[in-house]
Amino acid sequence: MRVVPIALRNAFDHVNYLLVCDTAKEAVAVDPYDVERVTAEAAAQGVKITGVVNTHEHWDHAGKNAEMKARTGAAIMAPRAAAGTLEGLDRMLVDGDTIPVGTAEITVRAVPGHTMASIALFGEEDGAAFVISGDTLFGAGVGNCGYGGDAPTLQETISGVFAPLADETRVYPGHDYLKRNLTFTLAVEPGNAAARALASALESRDDAAPRFTTIGEERAINPFLRPGSAEIRANLPELADPPSDADVFLALRKRRDSW
Ligand SMILES: [Fe+2]
Repeated sequence: MRVVPIALRNAFDHVNYLLVCDTAKEAVAVDPYDVERVTAEAAAQGVKITGVVNTHEHWDHAGKNAEMKARTGAAIMAPRAAAGTLEGLDRMLVDGDTIPVGTAEITVRAVPGHTMASIALFGEEDGAAFVISGDTLFGAGVGNCGYGGDAPTLQETISGVFAPLADETRVYPGHDYLKRNLTFTLAVEPGNAAARALASALESRDDAAPRFTTIGEERAINPFLRPGSAEIRANLPELADPPSDADVFLALRKRRDSW
């Protein structure tokens, strides 16, 4: 299986994905927003889109299902918990499900918090683990909880599902917010040398292709995965003393909401 990111460079900086099986010449599209771009990329790759997966119910991730169905005939799949808000689903997904991608497969994990129905998709490309994280984990950030989510639940998901992943796990989020998120990292942790180095590397980078991260990098640059950082804690004076990791996460989420 190969992950083919399609960076839309629109106002939302969406990244759509094709998960491609070269053996079967089949692909699964994740959160297709630009149907033209996604179907054109499948044609360019010489693969047929046999499935569409929504990581969550937000319109900018699940709003093109009918159009994708009409264009490709693919099976439309979304979290069972979102079924009440979405129409035309062929399969409802729950934690632990597997989805075929040609001769390979991906595994579904429930990752509630950004929305209560959110899922992430786990697989391997060239022997390397990856996660399609939707709007739950971004480069140097996490999803907001203002549109049907819950911050304490997101904290449990980030610490319980993402924090234990192996360093080399590649992270493929639903939006390319890395550059902007790094400015938040540096606002709450100005001494973070890894974040500063990556931010400056991005300055000189061609913007067309996103710079994806690994979980190991996220551990270094993502404040939401660094609740133990003394510098972050010192920059959140609203915290009780001594705060728990969850307190730090929630204070960061709140700060980021109005930042
Ligand atoms: Fe979303």
